Amino acid sequence: MIEEKVLDNPLLEGLALDRHVDSLSFVIFGAHGDLTKRKLVPAMYALFLQGLLPKGFALLGTSRTKMSDEEFRNLMRDSLIKFAPDLPYEEESWSRFAASLYYRATDSSKPEGYEVIKSTLTELDAKHGTKGRHVFYLSTSPSLYLPIIKGLAASGLVTKAKVSEAWPRVVIEKPFGHDLASSIDLDENIHEVMREHQVYRIDHYLGKETVQNIMVFRFANGIFEPLWNRNHIDHIQITNAETIGVEGRGAYYQEAGALRDMVQNHLMQLLALVLMEPPISMDAEATRDEKIKVLRCLKPLTAESIDQHAVRGQYGEGFIVGSTVPGFRQEESVSPDAPTPTFAALKLEVDNWRWAGVPIYMRSGKRLAKSITEVAVHFKKAPHNLFAADQSDDPSERHDNVLVMQIQPEEGISLKFATKQPGPTTMVRWLNMDFKYGTAFGARTPTAYERLILDCLIGDPSLYARTDFVEASWKYIEPLIEHWDKVKPTDFPNYKAGSWGPKAADDLIASTGHAWRKL
Ligand code: BG6
Repeated sequence: MIEEKVLDNPLLEGLALDRHVDSLSFVIFGAHGDLTKRKLVPAMYALFLQGLLPKGFALLGTSRTKMSDEEFRNLMRDSLIKFAPDLPYEEESWSRFAASLYYRATDSSKPEGYEVIKSTLTELDAKHGTKGRHVFYLSTSPSLYLPIIKGLAASGLVTKAKVSEAWPRVVIEKPFGHDLASSIDLDENIHEVMREHQVYRIDHYLGKETVQNIMVFRFANGIFEPLWNRNHIDHIQITNAETIGVEGRGAYYQEAGALRDMVQNHLMQLLALVLMEPPISMDAEATRDEKIKVLRCLKPLTAESIDQHAVRGQYGEGFIVGSTVPGFRQEESVSPDAPTPTFAALKLEVDNWRWAGVPIYMRSGKRLAKSITEVAVHFKKAPHNLFAADQSDDPSERHDNVLVMQIQPEEGISLKFATKQPGPTTMVRWLNMDFKYGTAFGARTPTAYERLILDCLIGDPSLYARTDFVEASWKYIEPLIEHWDKVKPTDFPNYKAGSWGPKAADDLIASTGHAWRKL
């Protein structure tokens, strides 16, 4: 069982494993979809194994597909075994968990669908003691968010709660709108039927252990924060590289592209955590207040400055792990002249006292040479170099003190520093001091969805995106989206699958005398 393993490890003593959750019913729209099978139900099962689900708990799945409760339970069991092999599957535990799973086929475009959900919830409330405490998780296409929220409101399942009241709650997945106007429109419509504190916008990056650790690392240690500013930091590189392509989501991705898919949400959240001021407390609003300030300090991009600050790319055919893979324009459901960027590199400038003059580089791309996400903080050099022979003219070969927060796949932190190689002469060697989550804690890392769902059950929105953050992020990205829409790319595809992106991205970072880290 997970909880025994967790409690056995002395490093985990003192962790708050006893966060209190009231009895509740959890309704998933899109229960037949991939996210439910791969992430949501496995996360709930993991919470169940750790004793973190409330005593009174019911999960009601709904979608158009016809299925009985039993068929739904079997489908979820098979998916768990297939998609969450790290979770211990035991007949006995699964049966206890599966007894709380229910399913109703409904059409969310029809009022009758909500009547079915309402009457089922009445039954479940009576059976599991969950009355009045309902979470609605929209694991559907974004185009259904508003119709479903309106349907829930019309049937009385969702009402505006006072700030002192916690229920009902609605969880929505990114993308939150397609641009600034549509995201404002979505929020205005949502706020007509419920208040902001009832809305949980999932950005799964915030649920990753290593992402949460950025705040702990910065603010629980006294030694790093005094260095965390323009006086000591030369520049920062945020990299999100994926070897995968669009994975059967060609139609979605062709419309979204790298900016909407990764940069506007996940990478902006990472950026805010790395650059924010210390919050006055770990309270959800206090931390989110500080994060939004970072976005407000970003120097806006203008049509004139874009070419010096942003580079786009699209992958062509190439090799990934020894196999040939098609270019983006040859992917299923992608048009042969799609102008969609599958790679974006940005140079961001932050206009505040802490970061003025420190370039922040960000890159995100599909079909790159390796799958790796990290934040690398490059410190300034020692003021006087006694060991000149050690430094190369090539910026990519040059050594700095670099602190790397490895988000995935290797989860950890490493600090690069110079040391004397043993021997009769003074030879400088650059080494890494490494911390690895896996070896240090020896425990299974909870998935992002486990943490985020638990927080939603508890009513803690700290790790969810607040509406002002979403808007500020769109506001920053919008001029870039508009410019790239207007000025069509003439050189696509401009990088090979399996490479590190277009050459222009190297030129972008070279403009300040830097080079991307070799990963
Ligand atoms: C999703 C994007 O939000 O995040 C995908 O839509 C991307 O395109 C994925 O592959 C990356 O998530 P992770 O957790 O694998 O880094």
